Amino acid sequence: MRILSVTIAVLPLMASFAHAGDPAVGENDFKKCKSCHAITVEDGTAIQNGGKTGPNLYGIIGRTAGSYEGFRYGAELVAAGGAGLI
Ligand code: HEC
Repeated sequence: MRILSVTIAVLPLMASFAHAGDPAVGENDFKKCKSCHAITVEDGTAIQNGGKTGPNLYGIIGRTAGSYEGFRYGAELVAAGGAGLI
């Protein structure tokens, strides 16, 4: 079940990889995510304003799952990160 839910969480990202290199397409795709996610640089600069239901996605590529400091993740995502999910 844990693997299934993580797979579902990552699928939208994989779809986005098809557009790698085209920021306009990515910005448009992000409309689906911004009700819950913002993209905010460490210094507070907003790349994309968004909701706070989900964690800040700045630097998400290459980051251990469930590791954004200060966000209260579900236990399964934290466990997946602990098991090595990036
Ligand atoms: C309805 C709200 C909502 C929407 C819409 C949403 N997310 Fe999320 N997202 C969340 C929540 C809540 C979490 C944390 C889940 C947990 O803790 O188990 C999360 C977690 C994530 C994570 C893992 C982050 C980490 O630090 O490990 C990624 C990546 C992610 N979302 C990407 C996306 C993308 C890409 C989209 C749009 C295609 C999207 N989300 C749309 C609520 C949402």
